[in-house]
Amino acid sequence: MLEELPLTQWKGPYDADTKARAVAALESGAVLFFPRLPFRLLNSETQFLTAGVADGKAKNISLDHTTGRMQASSLTGDKAQALAAMIERFGAGAASLVRDLLPYREVERARTSFRPVQVKGRSYSKISDDRLLHVDAFPSRPMRDGRRILRFFANVAPDSPRHWHVGEPFEDFARAFLPRLTPHPPGRSWLYDKLGVTRGRRSRYDETMLSLHDAAKRDDAFQQTSPQDAISFPPGSCWLVFTDVVLHAALGGEFALEQTFHLDVGQMADPAKAPIKVLERLRGESVA
Ligand SMILES: [Fe+2]
Repeated sequence: MLEELPLTQWKGPYDADTKARAVAALESGAVLFFPRLPFRLLNSETQFLTAGVADGKAKNISLDHTTGRMQASSLTGDKAQALAAMIERFGAGAASLVRDLLPYREVERARTSFRPVQVKGRSYSKISDDRLLHVDAFPSRPMRDGRRILRFFANVAPDSPRHWHVGEPFEDFARAFLPRLTPHPPGRSWLYDKLGVTRGRRSRYDETMLSLHDAAKRDDAFQQTSPQDAISFPPGSCWLVFTDVVLHAALGGEFALEQTFHLDVGQMADPAKAPIKVLERLRGESVA
């Protein structure tokens, strides 16, 4: 469930044994844990360790590294620029680590986020409550033919650990939930695409993953009784995980940074471990 890697550098080269362990564990559904890899803030950046830097509407501040556009921050002017620079430095570091540690030749670096609001005590609808066990599925960003969601996190809180729960293997979860999913109405993915609700049209894979995400969060018995392990990520540590296959819940903590990556299933060392392949095996048909 947790594969600890003693890396201390954000850039490679890393030794062959470490790289082999990393990809095998990651693709098997483990969380890669880097206890000795702190993301260090500059002295001037510690001012951003307050919930006040968020605009209060979205849970995360996000940065699009291709445009430099930052969303959901309350800051303006020089302070906004300095916060964006901190988020970008983290995102670039995460990208170099992923590039040097893993065998994937084409990894898309998507949004980078800063999560400055304490997880505990927030109130959300069930579907948007990430304190409930779930696999990630993005309502507006279709993954079409099973494109993967890989996320790199850093706990930058000065003294509070980030608490997660990690659930049972994806295949066990999907086997239990698939028979009770209700099919999405025909035409809806087409309409959402036309209306610009989604960036591109959702595939059956996207619809299935969204349904699994929602069904897990709505099922109180599953949340309370399904097997789960608690993980505590201490301040100054990082972790990397395929969040589309690992059931996870973020229960507590503040001040985390996160970089999302996407890659095609064909890039994987073992594509059979992709959630789309698991769903196809269970359903006996294509879901792309
Ligand atoms: Fe998540």
